[in-house]
Amino acid sequence: KEEDQTYGSILPVEKEANSCNDSCSLVLVESIPSDIIFGGNSTNHRSVYQAWLDLLNTASTNVNVASYYWSMTGEDIHVKDPSSKLGENILKEFEGLSSRNVPLFIATSFPSLAKYSKDLKNLKKKGAHIRTVNCSRLTKGVLHSKFWIVDMKHVYIGSANMDWRSLTQVKELGAMIYNCSCLATDLWKIFNAYWYLGGYNATIPVPWPVTYSTTFNQETPLELTLNGNLARVYFSSSPPVFCPKGRTDDLSAIVSIIDDAEKFVCVSVMDYFPTTRFSRTRKYWPAIDNALRRAVFERSVKVQLLVSCWSHTDPSMFLYLQSLYALNDPKANISLEVVKKIFIIPAVNHTSIPFSRVNHNKYMVTDKVAYIVGTSNWSADYFSRTAGVGLIINETSEDNHGKGQTVQGQLTAVFERDWNSKYAVNIEYSEHHQECTLGA
Ligand SMILES: *[C@@H]1O[C@H](CO)[C@@H](O)[C@H](O)[C@H]1NC(C)=O
Ligand SMILES: *[C@@H]1O[C@H](CO)[C@@H](O)[C@H](O)[C@H]1NC(C)=O
Ligand SMILES: *[C@@H]1O[C@H](CO)[C@@H](O)[C@H](O)[C@H]1NC(C)=O
Ligand SMILES: *[C@@H]1O[C@H](CO)[C@@H](O)[C@H](O)[C@H]1NC(C)=O
Ligand SMILES: *[C@@H]1O[C@H](CO)[C@@H](O)[C@H](O)[C@H]1NC(C)=O
Ligand SMILES: *[C@@H]1O[C@H](CO)[C@@H](O)[C@H](O)[C@H]1NC(C)=O
Ligand SMILES: *[C@@H]1O[C@H](CO)[C@@H](O)[C@H](O)[C@H]1NC(C)=O
Ligand SMILES: *[C@@H]1O[C@H](CO)[C@@H](O)[C@H](O)[C@H]1NC(C)=O
Repeated sequence: KEEDQTYGSILPVEKEANSCNDSCSLVLVESIPSDIIFGGNSTNHRSVYQAWLDLLNTASTNVNVASYYWSMTGEDIHVKDPSSKLGENILKEFEGLSSRNVPLFIATSFPSLAKYSKDLKNLKKKGAHIRTVNCSRLTKGVLHSKFWIVDMKHVYIGSANMDWRSLTQVKELGAMIYNCSCLATDLWKIFNAYWYLGGYNATIPVPWPVTYSTTFNQETPLELTLNGNLARVYFSSSPPVFCPKGRTDDLSAIVSIIDDAEKFVCVSVMDYFPTTRFSRTRKYWPAIDNALRRAVFERSVKVQLLVSCWSHTDPSMFLYLQSLYALNDPKANISLEVVKKIFIIPAVNHTSIPFSRVNHNKYMVTDKVAYIVGTSNWSADYFSRTAGVGLIINETSEDNHGKGQTVQGQLTAVFERDWNSKYAVNIEYSEHHQECTLGA
């Protein structure tokens, strides 16, 4: 009885045409931790905080949030730091939605990282509709997705959790998509699947009912005008058992983007392991590693991998990175600069805030495609167990030359800023993981 599990009948009849008449706009948004300073001319974007605040203020019909966990107040983790104020402001905005008659729907994860937070309880008291997806039971993973759909036409998707630290203490990147009902509607199908799975004792449907299917995918992306440029766009999803008919799974999307690159592949990801991490039996998992090696060996694509390094980094990661780096041999035209760098966020005076001061971004940009967020860490388990969503923007078209800057171009600039910053360290010079915790 799926119908009883979904809310209302907002889901419009499927648009069969793979094109969209909306004039969509997309802006990148970032959280740059306090005390991180890039060079004077470096690219910069609107803050996640400001974008969230503005979006909540414009909400008039409904707000849907897919979230891992909520921890928007310093009190949640017994930390007193002035930087928690921004999270508390956002929480107040969410609490105020009901007084404006804007219904709020939240899908969240069990297990959750925030065991002591009262945020969701308080929101529920204010009328929020909340469902918990028991990923522990369903996939032995977590619901790691982080996106909002507002008024069925605006979308936020990014690496930031519903966590005050994601606004001031953790480096995050996301995209705001405005006036784009076609993409919002498609993403809502993924939200709707979480809503279904959050129903009492729900199991994963096999197959998924056709209402969850999509026609927008790797083979037939949605064609639209994005910031005035021609773009082909789709959402990928993971794990594969959460993908109804037509939905490209996240790993296939990532591999196809790497395989499609002709000049460069830039990746920013927190963890990189060509293995399982949490399974009882160890499995070697070279799906992405092989795609990167193919790109450098077969097509002389320049690959740059930016991984995060912080006090919780497992130092064995560096062995796999060294193994990739060993291919680097510019003289033989084999690899063209497989360089990895490490993003160190200085602790400054924030050492007392747990699980902060890290580069939490997850994105990839090639000479053709921008890929934003996606399935958290790059290791096997995340693609088979963790629920996540990726946004793929393909701006290959020659039509775009000479027009305004593409999302691909903006994302490349973000990557270059981080790569060339003083916070990135070439892996050659960072043998030990202790360097991850260096002070300012
Ligand atoms: C910023 O750009 C200006 C003009 O392009 C240049 O003169 C200046 O050196 C740049 N500053 C930095 C810090 O790169
Ligand atoms: C951290 O230092 C900054 C200035 O460097 C200051 O504004 C801020 O209040 C300090 N935070 C704490 C918790 O001491
Ligand atoms: C999730 O499922 C497990 C059983 O696999 C159960 O022990 C746990 O209580 C459930 N959690 C929630 C929040 O329903
Ligand atoms: C969205 O569309 C409305 C109405 O056309 C317009 O007023 C608004 O500026 C647009 N928003 C953005 C962010 O482009
Ligand atoms: C929950 O689902 C399982 C498997 O479908 C079923 O065996 C069980 O009876 C259900 N439990 C309840 C309380 O409905
Ligand atoms: C991007 O679009 C072009 C043109 O439709 C297509 O040939 C290419 O495969 C697409 N790339 C990806 C990674 O989807
Ligand atoms: C990703 O890996 C880091 C370790 O660097 C870990 O702390 C974090 O919890 C992982 N993410 C998720 C969603 O498990
Ligand atoms: C590498 O590429 C350059 C330019 O394409 C070419 O001149 C050179 O011979 C190549 N070297 C090898 C070892 O293939």
